[in-house]
Amino acid sequence: MSDPIKTELNGGVLTVTLDRADKKNAITQAMYADLAAATERARTDDAVRVLLFRAEGDSFSAGNDIADFIAIASSGGGQVTDAPVFRFLKSLADLDKPAVAAVKGRAVGIGLTMLLHCDMVVVAEDALLSAPFINLALAPEAASSLLLPMVLGHQRAFEIFALGEAIDGRTALAWGLANRAVPAADVDATAAALAEKLATRAPNSLRKTKGLMRDAERLWALMQKEGEAFGSQLSSPEAMEAFMAFSQKRAPDFSKAG
Ligand code: COA
Repeated sequence: MSDPIKTELNGGVLTVTLDRADKKNAITQAMYADLAAATERARTDDAVRVLLFRAEGDSFSAGNDIADFIAIASSGGGQVTDAPVFRFLKSLADLDKPAVAAVKGRAVGIGLTMLLHCDMVVVAEDALLSAPFINLALAPEAASSLLLPMVLGHQRAFEIFALGEAIDGRTALAWGLANRAVPAADVDATAAALAEKLATRAPNSLRKTKGLMRDAERLWALMQKEGEAFGSQLSSPEAMEAFMAFSQKRAPDFSKAG
């Protein structure tokens, strides 16, 4: 299998591409490890001025790989915050250089919540963004329990979490989740142009600007707290029912959950 996370450094822009299109760019533990390494590199390598996330295929990302969820839940869950996904989350919290995202098609779960750590987001007008943790009987992650209400207000954020339904790219723009909504064919070029523009700006000034706008320690503390709720849900009977329902391509039945 070819490497599902590809990186390329060009003109100060480190482009990180999700390349698992046949699985809608669902993210495995191995992919999180590579995403974490790339994001850490973006912070520590002086040659990198901007990080750009993009994806191959028709979807940005279908979120966490559900087979991985089943494997972690079946092995008793363990300490969730030790998992590679948390290394990736910490690297996002710590990143003090600009991050840009190019989003086409579906952005599900962490495919949406990682956008809350990007400074400029370009979406396709017909993209579909969702955080359906509820459908898997899980809980919000990636500091999204703070960042999503901060961007959208409580009611809209609650609806996204609690109903698990998607909003389209135009709505994402209107609600402040994105900087630009463009036709899908223009997403990559628009995002790349923004990243290249940011790469021409004074790098230390940019880092200080971003650093002043976010509290990395607070974000990381919240990510760990969310991880406790997420971890206990992950090994719950209602989550196992949801994972099995996904594998069996049927709707979950939570009528007996108590
Ligand atoms: N984990 C593992 N595999 C996934 C996946 C995920 N999160 N999302 C999609 N896939 C796989 C499907 O099982 C399917 O594999 P198959 O071809 O071997 O059967 C393939 O990717 C294509 O997905 P499919 O569901 O057929 O595409 P679609 O266009 O009909 O629907 C989605 C796309 C993203 C709406 C749908 O796949 C989906 O809801 N995925 C789950 C999203 C999710 O709940 N993520 C976790 C959030 S916390």
